[in-house]
Amino acid sequence: MRHFLPLSRVTRLVGISRHALQELIRSDALDTFDGMVELNELMRAFPDAKWEDDAEFRRITEIKEKAFGKRVFERALPDKEVLAARLFELGNEYAATRALLMHYSNVLSWLDEKIDEIEEDQSAETRHALHTVRAFIVRHLAEIPPDAAKVQAVIAQERILKIMSAHVTIKPSGHEFFVESNDTLLEAALRAGVSLNYGCSNGNCGECRARLISGEVKKVHAHDYVLSQAEKDTGVFLMCSCAAVNDVVIEANVAGALDIQMQQLAAKVKSVEVFNPQVAALHLLAPRSQRLRFLAGQSVRLSAHGTSGQYAIASCPCEERHIEIQVLRKSDDAFSELLFSGLKANDSIEVEGPYGEFVLEDASARPVIFVAFGVGFAPIKSLIQHAMSLDLAEAMDLHWLADGAGHYQNNLCRAWADALDNFTYVPHAHSDDVETTLAKIVSDYPDLHRFDVYASGTASQLQIARDLFLKHGLPEQHWLASSY
Ligand code: FES
Repeated sequence: MRHFLPLSRVTRLVGISRHALQELIRSDALDTFDGMVELNELMRAFPDAKWEDDAEFRRITEIKEKAFGKRVFERALPDKEVLAARLFELGNEYAATRALLMHYSNVLSWLDEKIDEIEEDQSAETRHALHTVRAFIVRHLAEIPPDAAKVQAVIAQERILKIMSAHVTIKPSGHEFFVESNDTLLEAALRAGVSLNYGCSNGNCGECRARLISGEVKKVHAHDYVLSQAEKDTGVFLMCSCAAVNDVVIEANVAGALDIQMQQLAAKVKSVEVFNPQVAALHLLAPRSQRLRFLAGQSVRLSAHGTSGQYAIASCPCEERHIEIQVLRKSDDAFSELLFSGLKANDSIEVEGPYGEFVLEDASARPVIFVAFGVGFAPIKSLIQHAMSLDLAEAMDLHWLADGAGHYQNNLCRAWADALDNFTYVPHAHSDDVETTLAKIVSDYPDLHRFDVYASGTASQLQIARDLFLKHGLPEQHWLASSY
């Protein structure tokens, strides 16, 4: 019996990124069939994978051991009805496999009897041939294949993954993500950086409607929004109320920058992180009932104590209620002065937004060059974190051209470079001769036409950079920039 595994699960089983896997497929180092990998092919292509090193089993054991952590345990496991449904499905699969084995066993018994019958009237030569066939079958049935333990370990790992998470594919965009623990489909999508349409996130507005194409979803939170019978009959459900029971394909709208409505909310100051006398980060917490809907790279207007200003968001939309803003201290910017001198934890800040269209082209799988000038690092940071959670870009290079405030999050950028194979960080020291620095950067990319470039800085810095990149072969439509 051949056992096939979807690519998304293969990445988790062998612990490599989707891009690395696609690279193997492209170079014919791994054979696939209809987007699936056959088990023996998987073991051939990854002979060194530690299938028995069952991280998921260990994770469950650890969770159990922290059992003070009844709450931790509950959060890490799927909703109990979803868990019961997944176990039921696994039981069905087990029963079907057992029934098939019984059938094979009956066929073999029948074959054995048939050989007995035929043998009686045959010549010595034919009897010998039949005897050889029977001996061959008996010997091979009794033999345990040398890699049986490995096969069993891979299948067991895959089964655990299936119990702990469900895979979701969105049509027509093709986005994919996993639903883990007791997340709803909406929570899991946002955590994965997929910007699905939604409004209230608690079952009132109906904005998160989606249609189930295949698989099964289960309502895990009650909702006040009423779906019509016609909607229910065609598989429409609310993503903020449902979890995925098994791997599902759904039809849903992924929002672009222009699809997101302007919002106003009162956030609380969580902390102020002063990097140096010129730049500080403001960490805000949106209300539980109204998180800010935005795309990485967008900005917001903040108001407090009679001051206000518009700043790029430095955090990823996947960070739930947390919003980070990085602000450059300027004497003519009263809000920035307030941030450095007067704001405290729990102060209330009016947030309005999101603004701007400097967002990730997530339909593009081209390698990406990020160019950040000074505090232009803020939207670039948001974009990088978003790109990481989507795992789409083939490679990402960050060039950070410091101004007087320096590379105030140098350690973070180095940590990204250490953690990701496809991420490179190149800090560039402060220089008045931006053009020479940029010319050096550009000269390292003889194949610029393959790249997307995202840049953030002052208007004049961006103009110089744009001219140079385009002159060296970057297609105009691959240049995306935002000035501050
Ligand atoms: S987001 Fe409002 S009903 Fe789901």
